[in-house]
Amino acid sequence: MHWWLPLKGSTFAGDIDGLFLAILIITGIAFVVVEAGLIWFVIKYRQRPGRKAFYTHGNTRAEVIWTTIPAVTMVALGLISNHYWVRIKGRNSVPANAYPIAIHAKQFEWQVTYPGADGQLGTPDDFTVRNQLHVPVGRPVVFTMEGPDVIHSLWVPPLHGKKDLIPGHATSLWIKADRPGAFGGQCAEFCGYQHAHMRLLVIAESRGAFDAWLARQRRPAPEPTDAQARRGRDVFLTGPCAICHTIVGTPAAARLGPDLTHLAGRTTLAAGTLPNTPGHLAGWIIDPQRIKPGVHMPSIGLDGADLQALLAYLGSLK
Ligand code: CUA
Repeated sequence: MHWWLPLKGSTFAGDIDGLFLAILIITGIAFVVVEAGLIWFVIKYRQRPGRKAFYTHGNTRAEVIWTTIPAVTMVALGLISNHYWVRIKGRNSVPANAYPIAIHAKQFEWQVTYPGADGQLGTPDDFTVRNQLHVPVGRPVVFTMEGPDVIHSLWVPPLHGKKDLIPGHATSLWIKADRPGAFGGQCAEFCGYQHAHMRLLVIAESRGAFDAWLARQRRPAPEPTDAQARRGRDVFLTGPCAICHTIVGTPAAARLGPDLTHLAGRTTLAAGTLPNTPGHLAGWIIDPQRIKPGVHMPSIGLDGADLQALLAYLGSLK
């Protein structure tokens, strides 16, 4: 990691940004020097009343200078690129002990599937979360990725690497967080109306905390403990919510929208668009199209009492 990139969460991220910054700085200096010289010469030696423009040809000293400086700059760029490439090229092979996670990206959210207790994807006890994924610190994680609709691109700059998710063509990307933290990511391929609000959060935590999170996610939704929340569950199951959403442990098992089994455990709603508070959740349920035009969730008409009950229930889904 580089001292000027203190927010980075992985070794590769520091090296990739180091390469980018080194090339940016060197080419930036070259740009300024060349453009400044250009403007200087254009003004100083231009044709003026009573004087012809100045032309030069075959000036040995000038030829040597403007051949040597670019050549030295190119060699320096080559050496710097090679220095970083040697460090970064380990990214090309996925480590054998990488933890597998499947990511489906669709307009406009990230559907993230974790393996069952045996560590293999594709078993009945896989579970799915949205837009907030947890990873263990120090262990490589490999994402196998695909999108059902259009091309999206997974990009979490503090951990680095960027890879497209292409309909009908699986791609993969691996990351390794070197320290705990919450690292923001963003869809990096224009994918429609809400592309800019297609964010994700990667939460890197110690092995113990990660295992505890896995165990919590595998549990079904808790039973509502009070009358208000029980009424909220009835609103959920008998209203339009259950047509699209899953809450494990209830009859709601639809796959169109996000799995809400542990909704209250997330910090944001709508792919990082809103903080997960009762007020924002209420606004989202009543009129998601106003908050995120083009989102696939329709507006849900509920009277005030039903809405309050539903919020109480959803708030209990830790
Ligand atoms: Cu998904 Cu841009």
